[in-house]
Amino acid sequence: MRKFLLVTSLCLTAGLASAALAPVAAHADSASAVDGKMQVLPDGEAIYHHVCQSCHMPDGKGAVGAGAQFPALAGNPKLKSAEYPAYVVLNGFGGMPWFAGLLNDQQVADVVNYVRTHFGNHYTDALKPEDVSEMRPHLSVEEE
Ligand code: HEC
Repeated sequence: MRKFLLVTSLCLTAGLASAALAPVAAHADSASAVDGKMQVLPDGEAIYHHVCQSCHMPDGKGAVGAGAQFPALAGNPKLKSAEYPAYVVLNGFGGMPWFAGLLNDQQVADVVNYVRTHFGNHYTDALKPEDVSEMRPHLSVEEE
C-alpha cells in the first residue's frame, strides 16, 4: 500500500515539464485515485497525460536531467513489440515505478496502444486487455 501512495504521488505531478526532475512532495489527488486504481481515466491519451508524461514529457521525447534519465517513447524501436512496453508499465523498470496496481488491464492496453500509435510510432497491432491479464505479475497486491 505504501508503494501505491508513492506511485500515486509521483504520477499526479504531471505538467511540470522541466521541473519534473525535481523531487516532489507527496500530494495525492484523491479525485483521480480511488481504491488505488485510476478510475477516471477513460482512454490511453488521458492515461498518458496523467500518468506518463511527467517523466516521458508531453511529446514523448523523454528528458535528461540531474540524476535522472527518462527515455524517449517517440520513435523508440523497442515499442515494436507491444509486450515490451506492457511489461515495463506493469513491472516498472529501473527508475520507473510499476503500475500493475494502479491501472487495470484495459488501461494498460490503452496506454500501450496510445504510445505505440503516437509520437511518430505507427504500430497498429493493438494489445488487448486479455494479453495484459496474462502478463500480470502472479502475486498482485490485491492477493496480499
Ligand atoms: C516517475 C517517472 C516515470 C513515469 C511516471 C513513467 N515512466 Fe516510463 N520510464 C521511466 C524511466 C526512468 C525509464 C528508464 C528506466 C531504465 O532504463 O532504467 C522508463 C522506461 C520506460 C519504457 C522503456 C523504454 C526503453 O527504451 O526501454 C517504456 C516503454 C515506458 N517507460 C513507458 C511508460 C509509460 C507508458 C508510462 C505511463 C503508464 C510511464 N512510462 C511512466 C520513468 C517513468
